[in-house]
Amino acid sequence: MTSRNQSLLQRSRAAVWHPCTQMKQHESMPLLPIVHAEGVWLTDADGKRYLDAISSWWVNLFGHRHPHIRAALHGQLERLDHVMLAGLTHEPVIELSERLAEWTGLGHAFYASDGASATEIALKMSAHSWRNVGRPRKNGFVSLAHGYHGETVGALGVTDIPLFRSAYAPLLRPSAVVMSPDARGAQPGVDAKAQAEQAARELEGWLAAHHQDTAALIVEPLVQCAAGMAMYHPHYLQRARALCYRHDVHLIADEIATGFGRSGERFACQVAGVQPDFICLSKGLTGGTLPLSAVLTTDAVYDTFYDDDSARGFLHSHSYTGNPLACRAALATMDLLTDAALEKNRATAQRLSAAAQVLDQHPHLVNARQLGMIWAWDVLSDDPSFARRYHRAALERGLLLRPIGTTLYFMPPYVIDDEAIAHLVRGALGALDETLDGSPADDAAMLPALA
Ligand SMILES: Cc1ncc(COP(=O)(O)O)c(C=O)c1O
Repeated sequence: MTSRNQSLLQRSRAAVWHPCTQMKQHESMPLLPIVHAEGVWLTDADGKRYLDAISSWWVNLFGHRHPHIRAALHGQLERLDHVMLAGLTHEPVIELSERLAEWTGLGHAFYASDGASATEIALKMSAHSWRNVGRPRKNGFVSLAHGYHGETVGALGVTDIPLFRSAYAPLLRPSAVVMSPDARGAQPGVDAKAQAEQAARELEGWLAAHHQDTAALIVEPLVQCAAGMAMYHPHYLQRARALCYRHDVHLIADEIATGFGRSGERFACQVAGVQPDFICLSKGLTGGTLPLSAVLTTDAVYDTFYDDDSARGFLHSHSYTGNPLACRAALATMDLLTDAALEKNRATAQRLSAAAQVLDQHPHLVNARQLGMIWAWDVLSDDPSFARRYHRAALERGLLLRPIGTTLYFMPPYVIDDEAIAHLVRGALGALDETLDGSPADDAAMLPALA
């Protein structure tokens, strides 16, 4: 490693508190200092290239530094950088809100910067809306087992991943948790749809008993990504939609990870033909360039806030709400996500699936699954350090992959080409065999399952 690389690592360890990380692990596992990115490739300070096979935590859609998004940002920076959105408005936020409304069938876009903030906004809006119509008792939430909706205190309340949540349990107001429709949970002989129906029945029973105290059901449509790319049948969403209507409970679709083409359609709810009451968007919204999130809802919800009384308004705010640069990046990303781009993704997905058959057939991989531009397998390993050792072996092969526990997954940018697909599959396989063959690292006691 060059002295430039070494120096960046030392300075980063001393000055930066890295996310989702036990910092002590970096005593044995070096950070990767990235100095350049182009398309699907990242380059470190030594000039080594890595394929960004997880789209930098699922945010990048059309590759790094896409010329169209860059040009849009340059143009916007020449005109208007940022203004507060309370009492002021600007063209990028108006245009983005109009276009998101066209795409989602919902409206009144409310903005923040991160996915977790979008979750908070949707939860607050839902409960406040019920309060505004004289039903203040409806302020509880129900969520799915193993669900993930972010890590701020409110969002953790509807997140069911102990690794992220347990330390903060005393701070939380936990939602009720119902069975996940994860198709992997099915008994032998039970197919994904039957599994979805079983989970829907549990939800049905729960809502029948508790709807009077429940504001909303929050779900990640079709893929519970942080749970290990747990995929489920669209039947569950259809049943959940009908049940929420029946019981006057809002349906919040957290499409932070699945939105913007990741599921194969623009939104995973569209795969299931379901219209939620709230949609939470972030990650791919700006094509992986700038932080931005949005919550859109129905006219019916919006109207419950529209009043002469300020206290009935939604008085939530963030300083950077509706930042013009981020909105411009989102508009440029939406320009790229055409019907033709979705069609091209289908062809790319077919080619990647064909190339990845070698993984489907690997004797140590089970539960091969794919939706849109997401692929996942579960590794037959009980080594708690598998994810960390695999990550390291993949980096050696010029691949950025971070298994979730023992789930190996690919979530590449949509612009991955055949050469990169071959590099991905070859490297993933090589890293797998090396990790399974090698003896567990002496850091086996470290946290096992980081996304
Ligand atoms: C479904 C889902 N919701 C919410 C979040 C939180 O988003 P952020 O990390 O931007 O706060 C994530 C992040 O992975 C997510 O996958």
